[in-house]
Amino acid sequence: MPRIVVVGSINMDLVALCGRFPAPGETLIGERFFTCHGGKGANQAVAARRFGAEVVLVGRVGDDGFGRELLAGLQQEGVDTRHVAVTAGVASGVAVITVSRGENAIVVVPGANHALTPEDVRLAEADIATADVLLTQLEIPLETVAEVARLAERHDVPLILNPAPAQALPAELLERVSYLTPNEHELAQLLGRPHADSADLLASLPGKVVLTKGAAGAFHVDAAGGLRHQPGLAVEVVDSTGAGDTFNAALAVFLDQGIEVALQRAVAAGALAVTQPGARGGMPTAAQLDAFLVSRGQR
Ligand code: RIB
Repeated sequence: MPRIVVVGSINMDLVALCGRFPAPGETLIGERFFTCHGGKGANQAVAARRFGAEVVLVGRVGDDGFGRELLAGLQQEGVDTRHVAVTAGVASGVAVITVSRGENAIVVVPGANHALTPEDVRLAEADIATADVLLTQLEIPLETVAEVARLAERHDVPLILNPAPAQALPAELLERVSYLTPNEHELAQLLGRPHADSADLLASLPGKVVLTKGAAGAFHVDAAGGLRHQPGLAVEVVDSTGAGDTFNAALAVFLDQGIEVALQRAVAAGALAVTQPGARGGMPTAAQLDAFLVSRGQR
């Protein structure tokens, strides 16, 4: 199985399940509360590991109870945490998540994730140089993401950038990325064209963009401009948190089997992820993913 290096965020998720989202200024009585381990980087690392990859995570937690718990959780999953540093005097990242009818609204307070520096990435250069795929997101400083891209180029390692949360990205960074995995909103934001048509946006970075569209599946435009659509799989949606992370991890793990297979696995893995509460609750193992594909006539 491939060796994946993930550079990204590690959060404690504080989740409230509600019948609907509160309006500004309104207090709502929720149905249930739970904490669970999250953060886009850590979720992607855990998902890739559940699919059987060897996974190294580069990140930071705070020197607090959440940090210790998050680190232990990653180690229990078999993620290599040699490059997860404990940052003194800073709180661990936290995500306050409201879930209503399968959808979520998230506020992330980055804490230690924003102390992840380009130097932290350089300390992992030996692992990066021997990785099959690099995976990163935007819950860490942009200069740190840029360093990941520089090292990916230097060592000729494919880089998947999941551009979430959305922000405009410099052309130099986009050039160094092998695959970008935005939703429609993130694609418009990263290109700095918030009102452009989605077909135009998709065509603007040929070969690079894997556009995710929730229940409608995912789209990829190849370098020659050919459009591939991997349709979504109907499931009962309980909580969409972590579905994108599961999608990205599957794309990374199965990329060596070609973009067609990787897209199929990623869409199926993302569908399974939404069937349970919590960012990692529905994240499947390789065996569960296989069984699901068989049940849907895709294997
Ligand atoms: O992608 C889902 C993740 O986003 C959550 O686990 C939360 O921590 C936020 O980072």
